[in-house]
Amino acid sequence: MKSTIKYLLTICILIKQVENTVLCPSKLRCMDETRLNCNNSLSAPTDFHCCDGLQCVAAIIPATDTQDQLNTTICITSSSKQHQTANNKTTSPKTPPIMASSWSAATTYYNMSNGDTGWGYFWYDASHQAIRTDFYPICPFLQLYEAGVDANYIPCSVLFYEGQNYYVYPSVQTCCNYTFPAWQPDWLCQSNATFNGTILIDGQMTDFWTIEWFSNFTGEGSVRNIRNMYTQVDSRIPIRFREDLDTGYLDFHDYVEGPIDQTIFTSVINAYTPCHQGHDSESTDKTCTRYNSQTLRRSWPCDNPTCS
Ligand SMILES: *[C@@H]1O[C@H](CO)[C@@H](O)[C@H](O)[C@H]1NC(C)=O
Ligand SMILES: *[C@@H]1O[C@H](CO)[C@@H](O)[C@H](O)[C@H]1NC(C)=O
Ligand SMILES: *[C@@H]1O[C@H](CO)[C@@H](O)[C@H](O)[C@H]1NC(C)=O
Ligand SMILES: *[C@@H]1O[C@H](CO)[C@@H](O)[C@H](O)[C@H]1NC(C)=O
Ligand SMILES: *[C@@H]1O[C@H](CO)[C@@H](O)[C@H](O)[C@H]1NC(C)=O
Ligand SMILES: *[C@@H]1O[C@H](CO)[C@@H](O)[C@H](O)[C@H]1NC(C)=O
Ligand SMILES: *[C@@H]1O[C@H](CO)[C@@H](O)[C@H](O)[C@H]1NC(C)=O
Ligand SMILES: *[C@@H]1O[C@H](CO)[C@@H](O)[C@H](O)[C@H]1NC(C)=O
Repeated sequence: MKSTIKYLLTICILIKQVENTVLCPSKLRCMDETRLNCNNSLSAPTDFHCCDGLQCVAAIIPATDTQDQLNTTICITSSSKQHQTANNKTTSPKTPPIMASSWSAATTYYNMSNGDTGWGYFWYDASHQAIRTDFYPICPFLQLYEAGVDANYIPCSVLFYEGQNYYVYPSVQTCCNYTFPAWQPDWLCQSNATFNGTILIDGQMTDFWTIEWFSNFTGEGSVRNIRNMYTQVDSRIPIRFREDLDTGYLDFHDYVEGPIDQTIFTSVINAYTPCHQGHDSESTDKTCTRYNSQTLRRSWPCDNPTCS
């Protein structure tokens, strides 16, 4: 009897979660000229196809000091007007979810380079364009510049708030301020996330949404960017997030939806103002590195993400 009730409750909770999951508007997703891993094979789902007028060709993204060489495919302007018959295209079996507008979760951080783990907490609230991620015992970013690279191996809070991106180091009462927007709940839609199958993570089945692209922001050649998301199957519940430049990923536990008290975001910056701006050639304040999301020791003291 008890187990029947438990079973029914589980079913009810599952139905409630499915009801809550709003999917992206159903349109054909395709890859534009910035994306990696295209596949124009007719039997590949259309979200792997290049957008109209583009063809999928092999490409090599050269190694940088933070990334291995990658043999992949990209979409380039097509010389021959090859048309695919639209009637028997294989569409993706899944459409990405729109994430909740506010949620929080405990995290574990995994460093793929050396197997180290860390832990922390994550808060998101779209109404304040805000994300806060706390990292213990070691911050994965190396934003403290003047104090030297070893000074960075302390906890930090990484904050996005109203268009700015802050790195706060409470134990040294220092805060770094950069300009960078937080993502919107529909970011998987906006970026035409590609469904790359289901994957088991810590006993939970997840949908794997890949968004990989390249950019040439340093002018030194193509650099691979990753923003891959794993959501619990057919839901908007985040399980794992793997972002670029770093060599690690964040796992989410104890996910809870609901508005976040604004002080969760403002308290960490208000405690250590004024925040230091990332330094530039004109500034004498060299407390913080020039670029945001500086991650690997190998690139120290060089001040950009790709120089050696
Ligand atoms: C997403 O797909 C649409 C077609 O539905 C296309 O027009 C658009 O350029 C694509 N965007 C990206 C970022 O690939
Ligand atoms: C698509 O349709 C064409 C013509 O009906 C057929 O020749 C082709 O084999 C089909 N392709 C696939 C992948 O089913
Ligand atoms: C492209 O997709 C087809 C069909 O899914 C698959 O057989 C092939 O291996 C893929 N090619 C690449 C380069 O991934
Ligand atoms: C990538 O392609 C290049 C040139 O085709 C080849 O020399 C290299 O071994 C390939 N690397 C990998 C990891 O497959
Ligand atoms: C991850 O491992 C690499 C290589 O050992 C190291 O340089 C980096 O500092 C580590 N990151 C964290 C957050 O521990
Ligand atoms: C997508 O899935 C294929 C097949 O499992 C795998 O080879 C590939 O590495 C995956 N792509 C990414 C970006 O992980
Ligand atoms: C990257 O940008 C630089 C400077 O704008 C340019 O000279 C170079 O050709 C670009 N490299 C690639 C691979 O697009
Ligand atoms: C961060 O910099 C922006 C832009 O310069 C500024 O508007 C904002 O007040 C700064 N934030 C803090 C907490 O110092």
